[in-house]
Amino acid sequence: MKTNRLSKTLAAALNVQMTKEAHASQLYLSYAAWAEQQGLNGIADFLFRHASEERNHMMKILEYISKRGAEVLVTAIPAPPENPASINRCFEQIFTHEEGNTTAIYKLVKMSFDEADWATWNFMQWFVKEQVEEETLAMNLLNKMKIADGEKISGEALYVLDRDLKNTPDEIIAAQDVTTEHP
Ligand code: FEO
Repeated sequence: MKTNRLSKTLAAALNVQMTKEAHASQLYLSYAAWAEQQGLNGIADFLFRHASEERNHMMKILEYISKRGAEVLVTAIPAPPENPASINRCFEQIFTHEEGNTTAIYKLVKMSFDEADWATWNFMQWFVKEQVEEETLAMNLLNKMKIADGEKISGEALYVLDRDLKNTPDEIIAAQDVTTEHP
């Protein structure tokens, strides 16, 4: 009796996304190690925490594939990109990465919609909301850099940014959860 509740196409696409999340974790991990080598321990801390969050995203997808009765395919993780040339580039590359991930998530949403696989569509909504948060987080980093003069950031501003990011919460309030008391 067939108990697999995922189509071949969706199972394959979810497995690909699972590896993408693992790759995202490696990317944040490598940027974190790079930042630490630059003496930016606060930024490194922030990025290390985010690497762990990406690993959790990977795990969510792995469990979903498994619980729907399809085969989980753990494959090699592509190498992370080269170290960024500056902290400004680091944050730009993070934003570009998150934009790309949103596109990949939207494709999965569309695929599940087209197949009328409402369980997968519903599962993917968590990722849609998460990507809004991830993009906001990356935008906030870029905005901070813009205020600090981007590539021309002074040593003093970098010191403050590094100190602040150490204590920056990993989660931001999504627009859906905003109230007048907590904008
Ligand atoms: Fe798993 Fe940064 O999205």
